[in-house]
Amino acid sequence: MMQLPGLIDPHVHLREPGAIHKEDYDSGTSAALAGGVTLVLAMPNTKPPIFDAQTLDLALDSAKAKARCDYAQFLGAGPDNSDWASHPSLPGRSAGLKMYLDSTFGQLRLDDMSLWMPHFQQWPKSLPIVAHSESRSMAAAILFAAIYERPVHIAHISLKEEVLLIKAAKERGIHVTCEVCPHHLFLTKDDIPAISHGHPGRGEVRPRLATQVDVDALWANLDVIDCFATDHAPHTIAEKDSDNPPPGFPGLETILPLLLTAVDAGRLTLDDVLTRMVTNPRRIFNLPEQPETWVEVDENAAYEIKASESFTRCGWTPFEGWKVKGRVRKVVLRGQTAFEDGKIVVDAGYGKNIRG
Ligand code: NCD
Ligand code: ZN
Repeated sequence: MMQLPGLIDPHVHLREPGAIHKEDYDSGTSAALAGGVTLVLAMPNTKPPIFDAQTLDLALDSAKAKARCDYAQFLGAGPDNSDWASHPSLPGRSAGLKMYLDSTFGQLRLDDMSLWMPHFQQWPKSLPIVAHSESRSMAAAILFAAIYERPVHIAHISLKEEVLLIKAAKERGIHVTCEVCPHHLFLTKDDIPAISHGHPGRGEVRPRLATQVDVDALWANLDVIDCFATDHAPHTIAEKDSDNPPPGFPGLETILPLLLTAVDAGRLTLDDVLTRMVTNPRRIFNLPEQPETWVEVDENAAYEIKASESFTRCGWTPFEGWKVKGRVRKVVLRGQTAFEDGKIVVDAGYGKNIRG
């Protein structure tokens, strides 16, 4: 048995408010604990989106009643809410500001760079801006970090050109950090037929699964990657198999076993995982330590990933049937056992808002 610190996932979609048949603060934070994650940062592309005091309170009220692990909630950048200077206490109550610079699931979008500028000017430099930005819009986000002299964290990078540009930007001293998701490390677009089981919508995710060349470049430049994040984006299997499939994969319950299996195969070290799932996210997102918090993992337990054994409401995983090694046995969160032998043993509402 090995003991790890509680893991931090800075990119999680909990679907509350508005789509709790996919996930809510209860099921999503239960999935987190089952995956060894004790702190989640929740994305704002809900219905309604979280973009002002009223909608932030809406999400935080649900979280307070339901969350089983610790959390913070992102605010979303929209075309009309960049006057953060007039609401000085609001940013500090959030995980950070999420900016959707490309089209994806949800209504938060900023098509025009003139809409980005006031957010970069007014959002406090002490709090993170996270950019959903792919390829050339990622290059633009890095340029904005340089122009406005402030840190920017790039969500879910997936391409060779992206990791190479971030490496070059870091070498020039630009304050850019980035995360990569397990599905962009372990899957390519050639895996879509196997994931799909005849339903191509299951392979839909933003950013899309990339090529082997891209995946190889991410592995070859792991030192450029600051965080591993799930982008846990649950949609039900019925929605994924419909004529209009929304993009997104669940990930909270599979990230640690997938990474530990890669550690077992000698592809990275345990220290590489902990740096990217504890130390770096804590620094980048300015998160407090969680006292008396740890995860017990049976590193020798081999098993098959099965959606039927998961806590997420979405009912499927792109990693169905994968053989992994390393099972979470127990999670202790702030002195209390929260998960043990496959069961959540902490009450809804135990989770704490770390910005509260
Ligand atoms: C995310 C979702 O479903 O909310 N989907 C996805 O494919 N990653 C949105 C996002 O993170 O872009
Ligand atoms: Zn996301």
